[in-house]
Amino acid sequence: MPNPLPRRLDQLLSACGYCSRSEARLWVRGGRVSVNGQRAEAVDQKARAADVQVDGQPVDSPEGILILLHKPAGHVCSHDEREGPRVFDLLPARWLQRNPPVTTVGRLDKDATGALVITDRGELVHRWTSPKRHVTKLYEVTVDRDLEPGLVGVFAAGELRLDDEPKPCLPAKLAITGPRTAQLELTEGKYHQVKRMFASQGWTVLRLHRSRFGEIELGDLPVGEWRRLDLPKIA
Ligand code: URA
Repeated sequence: MPNPLPRRLDQLLSACGYCSRSEARLWVRGGRVSVNGQRAEAVDQKARAADVQVDGQPVDSPEGILILLHKPAGHVCSHDEREGPRVFDLLPARWLQRNPPVTTVGRLDKDATGALVITDRGELVHRWTSPKRHVTKLYEVTVDRDLEPGLVGVFAAGELRLDDEPKPCLPAKLAITGPRTAQLELTEGKYHQVKRMFASQGWTVLRLHRSRFGEIELGDLPVGEWRRLDLPKIA
């Protein structure tokens, strides 16, 4: 959590992912931590993050992490290494040691690419994944056979019921952009929703790319790279 108030150095270092609270003692003893340019004296010394340096550098993102990653295909949004390369492996290693650690705002499938927001601010995850908020997501889709104009009305109707879902999908905007390509804008995030919507009508999604998450456009961010986003003032 962001915390502009003075806090113990061991709390600050462990929250920002540098080391455990017990290791912080060694970091301070070793002279790696300073406060206002003066070597820190003890782990229970209290300081504002803005006044602390570690190895001569300002503390990394004490106010929290918020980034946009261009997710490559083949990476999973899970923290579990057994599921394959993780999106978190593309970020500074320290961020996974933060408390709380970084996490994705919603998920993209392993084979999907595009805009993925990552943060350690739990309230932002909640805000942007809450079904009540209807955050829009824009997907670029390639399918296995020619699209039919009738699909636009089927997706827009708000009556499409997917297997095992208690409620129909909310109205979704489909724009057919080529014989087998389309843009689909959703305001919700059911499990594998895009693939299941097309599958329910007899199409298989071959390629799925998210170009926008809410107001956040992927733009020309290269695949596998990330950029920081401004933390909202009131979260
Ligand atoms: N819909 C899907 O089917 N997969 C995704 O990754 C996102 C939306």
